[in-house]
Amino acid sequence: MYFGGDYNPEQWPEDVWLEDVRLMREAKVNLVTVGVFSWARLEPSEGVHDFGWLDRVMDLLHDNDIQVNLATPTASPPPWFGLAHPDAMPVRADGTRLTHGSRDTYCVNAPAYRAASRRIATVLAERYGAHPATAMWHVHNEYGTTCHCDHCATAFRAWLRDRHESLDALNDAWTTAFWSQHYSAWEQIMPPRATQYRSNPAHLLDYRRFCSDALLAHYREQRDILRVHGRQPVTTNYVMAGWTPLDHWKWSAEVDLVGIDHYTDEPGDGGLAQVAFASDLARSWARGKPWLLMEQGVAAMYTPDGTLPLEPGEHARRSLEYVARGATGVLHFQWRASQGGAEQWYQGMVPHAGADSRIFREIADLGRTLGALPPAEPAEAAEAEVAILWDDEAAWALRNPALPVTGMDFRASVEQAHRVLWQRGLATDFVHPSHDISRYRAVLMPSLYLISDEAVANLTAYVEGGGTLIVSYFSGIADPDTRVRLGGYPGALRDLLGVRVEEFRPLTGPVALSDGTTGAFWSETVQLTGATATVTYAGGGPAVTRHQAGAGTAWYLSTRLDASGLANVLAQAGL
Ligand code: GLA
Ligand code: ZN
Repeated sequence: MYFGGDYNPEQWPEDVWLEDVRLMREAKVNLVTVGVFSWARLEPSEGVHDFGWLDRVMDLLHDNDIQVNLATPTASPPPWFGLAHPDAMPVRADGTRLTHGSRDTYCVNAPAYRAASRRIATVLAERYGAHPATAMWHVHNEYGTTCHCDHCATAFRAWLRDRHESLDALNDAWTTAFWSQHYSAWEQIMPPRATQYRSNPAHLLDYRRFCSDALLAHYREQRDILRVHGRQPVTTNYVMAGWTPLDHWKWSAEVDLVGIDHYTDEPGDGGLAQVAFASDLARSWARGKPWLLMEQGVAAMYTPDGTLPLEPGEHARRSLEYVARGATGVLHFQWRASQGGAEQWYQGMVPHAGADSRIFREIADLGRTLGALPPAEPAEAAEAEVAILWDDEAAWALRNPALPVTGMDFRASVEQAHRVLWQRGLATDFVHPSHDISRYRAVLMPSLYLISDEAVANLTAYVEGGGTLIVSYFSGIADPDTRVRLGGYPGALRDLLGVRVEEFRPLTGPVALSDGTTGAFWSETVQLTGATATVTYAGGGPAVTRHQAGAGTAWYLSTRLDASGLANVLAQAGL
């Protein structure tokens, strides 16, 4: 069981390092992530390297039985880099080219950035690939930076040619007949830069897909370099946030273990539900590989309004829940709270107060608790009987700013469904709509707006073979190019659900339902074409329906049910 966190010794004089390792031993820390933001120290000017300090850090950690998750520092190029290669600085949609002064300031498609990334990864791999402290490689940090520059435009066009093959196909997929957007040459296509009014949703979605692939290419390039010189597992740390442009199923096939950074923002049980959600996602993305909590806050929650402390004992309770859900370790951001810099108010395992503090004592207790756990049994196949569909592309499509209402949020719908299952004590996996789902008793599909024909066939076969599918409003509406599936909503799932919807009726407030619960946000005029209504709107008309299809059952939830309404459906579905 790994225990530790991000360790940034370059922020401190060397005498502090000695206290660090002493305290790490006291807290039973056995893995630290080193070098995430060390590029400027490792390569003080272009092509000139200084490893002396890192050699000493690596040796010191090794002498103290602390292993290293060694990072490539490419998430934060030094100031000299941007000044030498201004074309490698990222450009926002509005055309603003960013300047160094923070982190994550680079264009992943700029040849100079790629070359600099390869160079620093190579020298690190050569020097530390055989170092006994190196236990794991941590490529980059929290991939997610996007750019709209000319390098990106060129790479985007190549990616589009690959996806659509011909301009005619692209024009068709993007419905460019609307607003005279027809492209007559590839060179006319730009990243979705600032424009007068609404952008084309298919263009936006393809750019997200492209960004995920472009970032992944950068990851793979470094991974392959690291593998030449070391035999350690290679991975990166995902941000568990709604905005990330990564397709996590695709990415997880390329990492040796899944690493997540997870920051809760709810106190009490809400926070535990968030831990369960993140852990189940990580375990599911890993598909049998190990997963690791690569970062969490230290005894604190970071909310939009600021940092809130966790109550005594709460940090350990959450940490143990990650472990109970399969995490192979519990790491933090960061070991020692920084004295200055942009994150000086993020809590550390050693806080500003020093080791004589409640926080450090709780951390050390947690380290001892984890250290005393019996060795983990070899991982068993997950026992979950229920699954929720997770699809990053569908999530991105739902971020289209021009939907019938604002406030559609795939992740929020998924999280609500997961929380109700969690409250009922049901173990849950996440699956992609095209995965084999035949082993699950029930599969939930919360607001999965965009769906492929292949996935529809998969879900249909699942239900007909005896499965239970529970579909929420605004699912199955669009094809993979965001085009509406015609003939009545929810286009792709009409037959399976035995309903047809001609009109949506978004709500401005909650409405009463016949089972005593409420619907909110959204409603529809549902026509029954084979299904039966199990719950109706107080004003009339089916709200929840059930349809027998083959040997299985497909449920439709045409409004946002409250937690007890959703629990009722689960109970009726035998869960
Ligand atoms: C992320 C980053 C860290 C740090 C923390 C702060 O997880 O990876 O470098 O910025 O957030 O919470
Ligand atoms: Zn760019």
